[in-house]
Amino acid sequence: MMTYRSVAHLIDANPTSDGDGLALHRAFPNPSLRELDPFLLLDHLGPTLLAPGEARGFPPHPHRGFEAVTYLLSGEMQHRDSWGNHGILGPGDVQWMTAGSGLVHSEQPGETLMREGGTLHGFQLWVNLPKRRKMQAPRYQDTRAASIPVVRNGDGTVTVKVIAGEAMGASGVIDTEIPIRYLHITLAPGSRCELPLPRRDHAFAFVVSGEVDLNGTVARKNQTAIFDRGGENVTISNPGVADAELLLLAGEPVGEQVVRYGPFVMNSKAEIVQAMDDFRAGRMGTLQ
Ligand code: FE2
Repeated sequence: MMTYRSVAHLIDANPTSDGDGLALHRAFPNPSLRELDPFLLLDHLGPTLLAPGEARGFPPHPHRGFEAVTYLLSGEMQHRDSWGNHGILGPGDVQWMTAGSGLVHSEQPGETLMREGGTLHGFQLWVNLPKRRKMQAPRYQDTRAASIPVVRNGDGTVTVKVIAGEAMGASGVIDTEIPIRYLHITLAPGSRCELPLPRRDHAFAFVVSGEVDLNGTVARKNQTAIFDRGGENVTISNPGVADAELLLLAGEPVGEQVVRYGPFVMNSKAEIVQAMDDFRAGRMGTLQ
């Protein structure tokens, strides 16, 4: 018998800004949802129209103990870090950054976007690392849009981009430290799909545009729908008159104590103090 997961909580994202004034909607953390183990944060960046020469991004800041995943829908983002890594993301590209033991990085609009202006639109997700992986060397998986599998249902009304994990027979190319599924799903009006969503995983959907019906609960743009663990599948449909887009995230809980302080996410207060000491002493490198 097929069993289905329902929506246990529906939470509105908070409009806010971060970095040097980039407008975003923070799905979580917020007072209703501190985290959803292993997921620590989800930001919907923009869409923000940048004038030529206008920098709106994240000036240098450190990270330790988790992974930061940037997925761009439009615009261009430039990444630099204190260990000499540098990369540029364009529309549809993903950077899966394992901060591990620590680095200082900046995330700013790319040079073309800076020169010509344009729309910056995307997402940043933070994924926790288990204790045994928190102090591993930093790692980057810069993934171009062309290498992200795109699958469609029989009549082409449902499109799934498989950023990580598996869906409809396709597997993402990103190698995740713990089992994670990250899907970007687009549904034409009136369309429907059904996906396995193992009970083991904590899972949520974030609505990017339009409205989606998740096993009987309708969620709208910038809402986060957290699934209960009462089944092994999920049904998603679009009851609206325009296309609907959502991110579907699922991951195996780490199940450890989480102590977070700004950009550091560790297992104890002592480890946070150590992270701050290491950052101040330049042991995460420096970036001008
Ligand atoms: Fe960052």
